[in-house]
Amino acid sequence: MKKTVLVSGGAGFIGSHVTVELIAAGYDVVVADNMSNCDLTCFEGVKKITGREDIPFVKMDFCDMDAVRRLFSQYSIDAVIHFAAFKAVGESVAEPLKYYKNNLISFMNILESGCPNVLFSSSATVYGEPEQVPVTEQSPRQPATSPYGNTKQICEDILQDTVKASGGALRGILLRYFNPIGAHPSALIGELPRGVPNNLVPFITQTAIGKRECLSIFGNDYPTADGTCLRDYIDIVDLAKAHVYAVRRMLDGKMEQGCEVYNVGTGRPVSVLELVNAFEKVNNLKLNYKFAPRRAGDVTAIWADPTLANEKLGWKAERSVEDTLKSAWAWELHLAGK
Ligand code: UD1
Repeated sequence: MKKTVLVSGGAGFIGSHVTVELIAAGYDVVVADNMSNCDLTCFEGVKKITGREDIPFVKMDFCDMDAVRRLFSQYSIDAVIHFAAFKAVGESVAEPLKYYKNNLISFMNILESGCPNVLFSSSATVYGEPEQVPVTEQSPRQPATSPYGNTKQICEDILQDTVKASGGALRGILLRYFNPIGAHPSALIGELPRGVPNNLVPFITQTAIGKRECLSIFGNDYPTADGTCLRDYIDIVDLAKAHVYAVRRMLDGKMEQGCEVYNVGTGRPVSVLELVNAFEKVNNLKLNYKFAPRRAGDVTAIWADPTLANEKLGWKAERSVEDTLKSAWAWELHLAGK
């Protein structure tokens, strides 16, 4: 019997790539999204890539418990991958209640549905400014520097506590993403930020295409080799595949703990300047950029030790940063109709 996975927030950047990989791995998928931060572009792209016109799509808000109940009575769901959340760090500082209400209530509603397998999309932001790099899953979490980051930590705790209290009825997996970038090789799905992008790669591609005048590199006086911050940029398709391995481990009864935590990164630190240079080189273009003051809240350096995911999930990041940057550019060109 085919198992069914609910992807909440499945019309967004990560959710759409995960839907493609789940279908390729033989799962049935139900996509649900309130469309608050996306349109149907990526969902249409998912249907084209998979050749599946029949993927169920439910427009709903996970903060609405009646809607959540209806969804779970309409479909027989074996596992949930929960992406539906707000994710802009700066906005969360300005509007904390919007973030706490949306991100916490929607997740608690999912847990109240009684689904026995729940995967939560967490973030490397929970490690804050780490004392040691690379970080393992045992590295201490640091106090969150934004309400957004705090919702990730609180949701991690909520899942851990709920699994503990369930007496084996609930299994949970927390995936801590590093910096997801790039797009599907088909260029039919990718990142679609609304307004001015906060994240580096969409800002780079929008500058290259002429939507933005100039990229500001935030800080070149960090204690790193070239003075810019170090991050672990993980290809979006590689990241999506990690979800398939994690869901399979849950559904095949292979988990060793009620709630397992995995870093999803490459283990390879790349500086902002290296990333910009690589983008210019692989796509054969010049980017207009300048150095600007540091951005508040940025950490100097963080990258993953992905050993646990490599060993327990059997997953490994495969795509090179060069290929990922090519895919990001191909997606921007696709959006521009070129
Ligand atoms: C942020 C969030 C993280 C979230 C991730 C993906 C925090 C502290 N960070 O990570 O939780 O998972 O986004 O959504 O909560 N940069 C520039 N110029 C720009 C934009 C970025 O120089 O215009 C630099 C930044 O200073 C940073 C690097 O690029 O050094 C990456 O920035 P970004 O893509 O925003 O990701 P993070 O801040 O690492």
